[in-house]
Order: sequence, then structure tokens, then C-alpha cells
Amino acid sequence: MKYNIAVVPGDGIGPEVVGEAIKVLNAIGQKYNHQFNYTTVLAGGAAIDEYGECLPEATVEACKNSDAVLLGAVGGPKWDHVPGPQRPERALLGLRKALGLYANLRPAMIFQELADASPLKPSILDGGLDILIVRELTGGIYFGEHVTESGEDGSVTAYDVEKYSDYEIQRIARTAFEMASKRNGRVTSVDKANVLDSSRLWRKIVGEMSSDYGNVELDNMYVDNAAMQLIRDPKHFDVIVTGNMFGDILSDEASQITGSIGMLPSASLGTGNPGLFEPIHGSAPDIAGKDIVNPTACILSAAMMLRYSFGMAEEADAIENAVNKVLDKGLRTADNMSEGCTCLGCTAMGDAILAEI
Ligand code: IPM
Ligand code: MG
Repeated sequence: MKYNIAVVPGDGIGPEVVGEAIKVLNAIGQKYNHQFNYTTVLAGGAAIDEYGECLPEATVEACKNSDAVLLGAVGGPKWDHVPGPQRPERALLGLRKALGLYANLRPAMIFQELADASPLKPSILDGGLDILIVRELTGGIYFGEHVTESGEDGSVTAYDVEKYSDYEIQRIARTAFEMASKRNGRVTSVDKANVLDSSRLWRKIVGEMSSDYGNVELDNMYVDNAAMQLIRDPKHFDVIVTGNMFGDILSDEASQITGSIGMLPSASLGTGNPGLFEPIHGSAPDIAGKDIVNPTACILSAAMMLRYSFGMAEEADAIENAVNKVLDKGLRTADNMSEGCTCLGCTAMGDAILAEI
């Protein structure tokens, strides 16, 4: 079988990590007899430099016409002066919207070998950590109206609208319940229903949906409490389902509990369009081009691509096992280096993972 992958290396360390992920995909292709074809397109700062816009139509088209999209990262200080609607980050939002990728899966798991890297006490993390954050990705305040207006008295007011419709909540809740039924059977829905109408609707709809999933237990939590419980008792959580902004914030928090944002992949899925797979870390411009970044999150994103878009569970397992073997051997990158381990650069880490496949 042939698979067409649109590749969006993006900015900063994006091209480096994507390069390593492609090496690993090619090794999988050889071993399991699949043909992966790549079409590289620009988005973010790289596209602003080349075409004067962060998300050219040709990029959207190439992504739509692919079987899956692999993305590095976008943004950097070079484009800080660019006005809001044209910022590199808007390329991400635009691509998610154009492809209808409403479900963002962000696993936060602890790799046993890296448990020391977590800022939480071992007693809290005893036995590991495996949370899946299911973040709604094409609605809410990031896609509501954004307005800045001047009053006649010279004052300036800005506002952004948080808005959710029942069907948007239903489909993301379904994703969360489906995921939980294949995991530990628990969904925590996070909202701010004590204050926001949009959250009250969220809670009502998620509650209604739960009756279709007798095997999954649902609890509701306010977002401020959820932020606290993630630190106090992270093992409470199996699947967290929440809106766009709360998911953005809580997924960064959860990544830090695992101690290694450089290890965590993500998948953004919709219906009828290719999925998009990207590491959750950003473009890290300060370490770009130095061959020191950890490519693992992007390599694991490629594994998620195989699992969710191409139905290749065995191949995805092969990548994940290879990552674990490399960690077992004490091989690390600068971001999660610890005593007695060997520190590799980006390319060497890609090679080490490849060698285990
Ligand atoms: C993320 C990022 C993006 C988001 C930004 C860069 C627009 O923070 O993927 O979490 O908020 O979705
Ligand atoms: Mg974020």
C-alpha cells in the first residue's frame, strides 16, 4: 500500500525533528513493506518568508489531498512583529479548522526510565502515569469573535467570545468516551460550569452522552480544581475531555508532570479528512539548528499517525518499543539528561531509535 504524507516542517526545531521522524517512518516502511510518499509544504513563519502569508492555499490543498499530515512546529521571535491574524500560530489554527480536526489527543505518560525528571514526588507518581487529554480543537474562544475597539472617550476594549454548540460537544464527548472504553474506563469532563453558560451546556451534553457508555464512569470537575488535582493526585485521571482553551492550558501542565515535554506526541483528528500529527512542544528557536533537540515527541507523533490514520498498530508498537529500548540503554538528549546516561544529539537519537526497529 502507498500512503501520501503531507509534511509541514515549520519553523525553529521543526525541520530537525520532522527529519528524524521521516527516517524512522522509512525504516518502518522497509520492515513492514509499506510505501510512504512525502510532500513537503510550508506553513507558519517559513511560509510568511516565502509567500507573505502563514497558511498558503497550496499548503491547505496538499494537506487535504494527503492521507495524513506530519507537522513540526511553527513560530519564533523573527515574526513577533507580525499582526495577530497573520502570525505563524494562526497557520495551526487555520489548518485545524480547514481539515475539521476537532479532536486533539494529547497523551501525558511517564516513561519509567524518566520518572526522576518529574517535578512531582515519587509517592504521588507511584506506579506511573498515563493520562489522555482530549481537547476540543476547532471551537471555543480561540475561534469565537476577536474584537478590539476604541470608545469615544479614548478607552480601548477587547473581547473574545467563548461559544460552543451542542453538536460540537457531542462529537468531542463521543471521542473521549470511545477512548476511555479502550483504556481505564474513566472520563473526567473539565469545565467552569459554576460561572459560564458555555460550560453549563458542555456539562449537560457530556452527561447526556454518557448514557450511551455504560462501561465508562464520568465525573465533572471545574477547571481550577482540575489544575490542582493534576498536581495533587494525577492518577485520578484516565481521560480528560475539555474545551479548546482549558485543554491548551491543562495539556501543558500535564506534560510538565511527566517531566519531559520533548517526549510527548499529539494527534488531531476529524471525520473525512486526514489527521494531523505533531509534537506538543513548540518551535524552541533558542536551540534550533544546533542538533541538540529531542526528536522523540515527533517520532512518537509518527507512531500515532500509523496507529490512528493507517490502522498500523503493530508498526506503531514497534516505534514505541524502540523508544523504550533506547531509554533503557541510558541514551538521552540534553532535555532529559541525567547522571550515568549518555547524551545524544538530535540526529544520533533518531539513529538510535531507528537501530531498534
Ligand atoms: C498548542 C499551541 C497552539 C494552541 C498555539 C500555538 C496556537 O499552544 O498547540 O497547544 O494554542 O493550540
Ligand atoms: Mg498550547
